[in-house]
Amino acid sequence: MPRLSFTLNGRPTEVEVAPGDLLANVLRDRLGLIGTKIGCGEGECGACTVLIDGVSALSCIYPALKVQGRQVTTIEGLSPKGTLHPVQEAYVEHFASQCGYCTPGFIMSTMALLREN
Ligand code: FES
Repeated sequence: MPRLSFTLNGRPTEVEVAPGDLLANVLRDRLGLIGTKIGCGEGECGACTVLIDGVSALSCIYPALKVQGRQVTTIEGLSPKGTLHPVQEAYVEHFASQCGYCTPGFIMSTMALLREN
């Protein structure tokens, strides 16, 4: 299997992946970062949103091998010291979590929106 090297939440990361593996599955199943959720699995709902080089991407339809040499940020990367990121705090303060399942995707999309604006 090809060996994928990339930066994940600021840390150099290497993992073996099959050519057809999708980023969401690699993050969750191979690297244990289950904060990224899989809802529809078809690129429609956004629950799986992560940042790739600071741009939002739907990891459920994103080929894992395409992040070779790139920077990937997941919801876990926003609070590496266990404290909430200000965007996460804002979600809590304004009761924006709803059931919470897709909240990580919402927050990562918010991060991309704020970065772009
Ligand atoms: Fe719905 Fe990826 S899980 S867009």
